[in-house]
Amino acid sequence: MVYRLEIPKDKTFDSSIALLREGYRFIPNRRRKFQSDIFEVTLMGQKTICISGPEAAKVFYDEKKFKRRNAPPRRIRKSLFGDGGVQTLDDAAHRERKSLVMSLFTEEYIETLKQLTANEWDAVVNKWITMEEINLFQETKKVMCRIACKWSGVPIKDEKIEKLANELWALVDSFGAVGVRHWQGRIARKTLDRLIENMIHQLRAGKLYAERGTALYEIAWHKDVNGKLLDEKVAAVEVINILRPIVAISLYVLFGALALHAHPKEKEKLNNGGVEYTRMFTQEVRRYYPFTPFTGARVRENFYWAGHHFLKNQLVILDVYGMNHDERIWQRPSEFRPERFKDKHLKAYDFIPQGGGDFHLNHRCAGELVTITVMEKSFEFLTNKITYTVPKQNLQISGVRMPPMINSGFIIKNVERLKNV
Ligand code: HEM
Repeated sequence: MVYRLEIPKDKTFDSSIALLREGYRFIPNRRRKFQSDIFEVTLMGQKTICISGPEAAKVFYDEKKFKRRNAPPRRIRKSLFGDGGVQTLDDAAHRERKSLVMSLFTEEYIETLKQLTANEWDAVVNKWITMEEINLFQETKKVMCRIACKWSGVPIKDEKIEKLANELWALVDSFGAVGVRHWQGRIARKTLDRLIENMIHQLRAGKLYAERGTALYEIAWHKDVNGKLLDEKVAAVEVINILRPIVAISLYVLFGALALHAHPKEKEKLNNGGVEYTRMFTQEVRRYYPFTPFTGARVRENFYWAGHHFLKNQLVILDVYGMNHDERIWQRPSEFRPERFKDKHLKAYDFIPQGGGDFHLNHRCAGELVTITVMEKSFEFLTNKITYTVPKQNLQISGVRMPPMINSGFIIKNVERLKNV
């Protein structure tokens, strides 16, 4: 088939530096400049097609058109993802592995997570009330890490939690980085793979106990369609696929705290609005604040869409962040307004902060419900279980750093336990 370029093309020789410079605005900036939901750029020496919008997302999640094998660059596999995990599988192998991951999240297991989240937050208050000031990001990472380990059945001594939390965060923190921050992610990946692989080994040898139903137990004992246990290295990657993103939720919790500070009326609305308002607030945090910039896949077989011949093996990236701020989907997208989710009939591909499509068939985030559950319980804690003050500090978020960070880490002071607890 002849390659007919009918879409706008960024003439820059290689836009990798521009991606680092523009961060989350990279695709939206060009979408606006080209007035097109599809355009071509060169990234790390590769022709890459950028697509945006619900129609594009629908095509992107069509498994007949796209595959994930060889889509994530080596630098992501060596840090954020690890080798051999569900993210890089296709077809039957993907469905089989994804069903293992999805089968973990039963109603009962999610209920345990709710309880654990409430308990772990409750457990920090006695310490917080004695502290001069609290760096919410540093503290939240540890809380999330304790939740992740206890919930997953990963036995870790309390004195090791801080180190583990930092290593799991280093994986997340490396995804959009070059230099030191990226290498910290790679080093953490090696350490964590070894740690969890050893646990899988011990568990299988009967030298370590994990409760049935926990992620560690179920992944360690999972047999594939051929009746074989997962390779220990791959099993470790899948356990880390549960631990790492729970620690990543720290950032959403931090953004929720920032939203509560920037919009003081939200606290009252959360306290009076019941579960319905808490859900709307949580959704708005996931929409408004940047986290996933985009996700990528490779073309499976040549096909034609939106005036473009997609060629086999071509890299295509879907604009996730830009869609959360697309004025064609959201009215006044730059306003933080949880009420927008009230009675909003979202179509299947309108809101995909953690990927789209079907949980079982596509690569949509397996942990969306886990994320929402932990966020909701965390916001309940911040608004209903404690009071605190927020001193003057630099609360800027860089729109360039991927993942983003609040400059000060979000400092709180004068924590008090609310009497009704
Ligand atoms: C901070 C919150 C989170 C964010 C922003 C996030 C984002 C994402 C994104 C963008 C994807 C890829 C979607 C795609 O490529 O189509 C993904 C996949 C995945 N996520 Fe999450 N996630 C989060 C939390 C979680 C949690 C809490 C878990 C598990 C407990 C989890 C487990 C997974 C797994 C296993 C996949 C791979 C799915 C597959 O390849 O089929 N995530 N996530």
